[in-house]
Amino acid sequence: MTFLLGIAMSCILVACGGGEQTTEKQETAKTEEVKVEETKKEQTTPSDNTATATVADLPGKGIYTTYCSVCHQADGKGVPNMNPPLVNKEWVGGDKTRLIKVVLNGLNEPITVNGEKYQGVMASHDFLTDKQIANVLTFIRKSFGNDYEAITEEEVAEVRKNNKK
Ligand code: HEC
Repeated sequence: MTFLLGIAMSCILVACGGGEQTTEKQETAKTEEVKVEETKKEQTTPSDNTATATVADLPGKGIYTTYCSVCHQADGKGVPNMNPPLVNKEWVGGDKTRLIKVVLNGLNEPITVNGEKYQGVMASHDFLTDKQIANVLTFIRKSFGNDYEAITEEEVAEVRKNNKK
């Protein structure tokens, strides 16, 4: 009797265990389905859409590395008391004309960035083309945690035309 009961018990246990496994498997299958769906969505996003291009793809990155990162650093955080950070709203996220002029004319005046005072000298970079300036400024406006509107070649051309030092 005990023996039979034992068998019956293990049958129930197995049945239950088996039941649980099936639901678990089903759930895993469901999560995987969702994952696949998500991947599909990502893949269908057009890669030539600039709004979804990653920062590393932006053409201004190379110009930044060549002409700006020596002072403002690869991470845009600058050097305390010397080169101001490019992670800021007032200059990088501020007026486009003023920002374009910083690159065209350089800057040599006491300024405050994120509450810190700087009084260094940044040389003019007017040897860069309108396109290069637009690209590098778009890059900094979308990197290091910044997220501001792009700057176009036409906007730079316009500022250069009216540029008074
Ligand atoms: C020789 C070092 C040096 C280089 C190279 C340099 N900068 Fe600067 N930059 C400075 C300094 C110093 C200041 C602050 C000048 C002042 O206080 O008047 C500054 C200020 C700025 C500002 C305004 C303040 C801020 O932090 O937002 C921007 C924007 C800027 N630089 C962008 C650039 C870009 C873009 C490049 C590359 C095209 C570049 N800089 C290259 C040293 C440099």
